[in-house]
Amino acid sequence: MTPPLVRIGQAGLGNWGQNLVRNVDDLAALTWICDTSDELRERFAARYPGARSTGDFDDLLADDDLEAIVVATPVPTHCDLARRALDAGKHVFVEKPPAMRRAEMEELLDLARARNLVLMPGHLLLYHPGVRKLKELVDTGELGEVLCVYGNRQNLGVIRSHENALWSLGVHDLSVILWLIGEEPVEAIALGRAFLQPGVEDVVFCYLDFPSGKVAHMHLSWLDPHKMRKMTVVGKEKMAVFDDMELERKITVYEKAPWEPAESYGEWTTRTGDIFSPKIPSDEPLRLEVRHFLDLVRNGPGDHQEAVDGLAVVGALERLTESLRS
Ligand SMILES: NC(=O)c1ccc[n+]([C@@H]2O[C@H](COP(=O)([O-])OP(=O)(O)OC[C@H]3O[C@@H](n4cnc5c(N)ncnc54)[C@H](O)[C@@H]3O)[C@@H](O)[C@H]2O)c1
Repeated sequence: MTPPLVRIGQAGLGNWGQNLVRNVDDLAALTWICDTSDELRERFAARYPGARSTGDFDDLLADDDLEAIVVATPVPTHCDLARRALDAGKHVFVEKPPAMRRAEMEELLDLARARNLVLMPGHLLLYHPGVRKLKELVDTGELGEVLCVYGNRQNLGVIRSHENALWSLGVHDLSVILWLIGEEPVEAIALGRAFLQPGVEDVVFCYLDFPSGKVAHMHLSWLDPHKMRKMTVVGKEKMAVFDDMELERKITVYEKAPWEPAESYGEWTTRTGDIFSPKIPSDEPLRLEVRHFLDLVRNGPGDHQEAVDGLAVVGALERLTESLRS
């Protein structure tokens, strides 16, 4: 027998929220939609007539039948809305990042643990089949010891005015880098420049140093001639690239590595072999992400791994921001 659909309400029906709500409606019972904009509420109430519509988040909290809430509002509102939802006993999916400070994210995690509720940050890329393949290549040892990871997230535009390139673009790559490496950085350095609007860095370079000696780098920019969505992992045996701009070859594995021949007495050379592209399923990452949230709601939050990963991301973001400001 199929289990009853999870009853969900969603706050935030803006640019990204409308993608989320489509998946929520497909996979669960969408019972509330909430946005402070009258115009958006009107538009989405017509699209989802089975859901009740409100501009007041408290209406969702007061509904005892509502099991879970999706938060897709602007970043500064995330922590407060997520805290109130957890306090009211609702499971929460909250867009990235769930909080702007590590201490706030710790508070949310403590609350979720105390209430045995799901707290899942919307780190979309962790559900991308290409990124999952990259993680498999790292975890199975296929690439050998990982030495460094670097992300490129560049394009001309979209030029933001409320968030800098680190907060707008960097959260995605940071979540992937921390997940692949499985450690929290001991050092987090960011350099950048606000060329167009005071205080909003358009170009940011980040360097992360990990306890195991691995290092990572991110180039984040909306002032760039290349549209790049790329993550490179350099292993001691092989190297792999995830390129989200590619339609078919999302992952390429290079049999390229440093090599120390036995007879070379400490002199390093290199070796090159095949280059191959494993098949990557074309499932929509957002759908997989929403499905994962629903599985957690049905089966319980377990060890809260998703929120623990989210805590590491918020912690690193906060340190990179302090570095950028200094
Ligand atoms: N995972 C991804 O790839 C991805 C991509 C884009 C955006 N996002 C995230 O999604 C979130 C929303 O981004 P967006 O681009 O849709 O923003 P947006 O500004 O287009 O939409 C936000 C909506 O929230 C509403 N809102 C604000 N405060 C509210 C409140 N207290 N209660 C109810 N509604 C409220 C606004 O009226 C607006 O309609 C952000 O956190 C952003 O970081 C994620």
